[in-house]
Amino acid sequence: MKISVIGCGYLGTVHAACMTELGHDVVGIDVDAAKIELLAAGRPPFFEPGLPEMLTSAMATGRLSFRTDIAAVEGAQVHFIAVGTPQLGDSFAADLTFVDAAVEAIVPHLRPGDLVVGKSTVPVGTAARLAEVVRESGASLAWNPEFLREGFAVKDTLAPDRLVYGIESDDSSAEALLDAVYATALAAGTPKVVTDFATAELVKVAANAFLATKISFINAMAEVAEATGADVTQLADAIGYDARIGRRFLNAGLGFGGGCLPKDIRGFMARAEELGVDQALSFLREVDSINLRRRERMVDLAAEVVGGAVAGKRIAILGLAFKPDSDDVRDSPALDVAQRLGELGALVVATDPEAVETSRRRHPELAYVSSPEEAVRGADAVLLLTEWKQYRELDPGALGSLVAHRAIVDGRNCLDPVAWRKAGWHYRALGRP
Ligand code: UGA
Repeated sequence: MKISVIGCGYLGTVHAACMTELGHDVVGIDVDAAKIELLAAGRPPFFEPGLPEMLTSAMATGRLSFRTDIAAVEGAQVHFIAVGTPQLGDSFAADLTFVDAAVEAIVPHLRPGDLVVGKSTVPVGTAARLAEVVRESGASLAWNPEFLREGFAVKDTLAPDRLVYGIESDDSSAEALLDAVYATALAAGTPKVVTDFATAELVKVAANAFLATKISFINAMAEVAEATGADVTQLADAIGYDARIGRRFLNAGLGFGGGCLPKDIRGFMARAEELGVDQALSFLREVDSINLRRRERMVDLAAEVVGGAVAGKRIAILGLAFKPDSDDVRDSPALDVAQRLGELGALVVATDPEAVETSRRRHPELAYVSSPEEAVRGADAVLLLTEWKQYRELDPGALGSLVAHRAIVDGRNCLDPVAWRKAGWHYRALGRP
């Protein structure tokens, strides 16, 4: 298949490289010339495990190119829209500027029989509106939400756990074209749900709302655990043995962040309000509040372990990315805590294996170093905020010789309290005694 991918962010770049790997001819388009220049040289503009190798091998086939000129989509039959839908600055709603601009830009280049495939996360009702616009050119529209996780994006794209096609009931060719695109995954038995636009759009936000709710549920239990001396980690293990509940996404700690979960639950609430069903999603407000309260609690714990107030105290921050194996700091709980502590007058020294540069761009006022050893030197307290493997494996004895005071707050419940206490550390965590 000849494919175009509009938008070369985390989603679009991985999609373009993986589609090439699956045997298709792909052009990736983005308005950001600097990004396209890097990609054309085979270099991803962000950190994603496995992507550099995938990009190199895809470029070597000669079937993948990157362009800024939208006319380069001509000749492709299937056009994926993979641009961002961030939260608007002044409301909970999603900003559809980039999606609308992408569709408008592509329409003059479409031929009858082409298929435009929306992958971006959009408020329900968007696909029906865009289908009208696309139809003018004789092409049609499908909505095919994406469920990839950063850090596992290549694997999730090559071997998704399900495929969802939102198509119009009279559009028989859309399903056939998507089947051709995803032939490899389908042959491997990937489940496929063919449905209408509204359901496809809702599947995506419902999935993210469920995941956010699961995380906030366990973080609410962490709040109760903190008031009672219970241990939320053991509680999660115990309830997680019930297959109906499941242990995954029950890790209590600093909560969720990133470019998806926070803005998706807010966008979902905003859309529900427009539809007059805001009551149905009022629980998501609480999900959001529980999540944000964890960041406040972390700041309070930091103050507690340094003896009352953080002003003038040297605080080492280990981890800035919103999760491990990513350099993404969009709505990162870790970076948020670092910034709040800085505002309170703490001398913050932060590090992350991949997210120092992305953090510096947002918060140049904080001090950044490249290793945990440098970060903790002379520290009054250490905060572990993103559970990178190299931080989980830190040696409490060796680290203890570098700090001013052996005090650590484990924001991700990823360290062994017994080992750290044995090495003389004052160990505190969210939701654990
Ligand atoms: C999320 C979804 O998991 C994907 O399925 C979806 O495709 C994607 O959003 C999207 O909409 O594009 P992602 O943002 O990459 O993926 O990150 P997650 O793995 O979901 O983690 C989100 C946040 O939740 C992270 O900050 C993580 O630290 C936190 N988290 C996760 C917890 O606090 N506890 C957990 O048990 C799990």
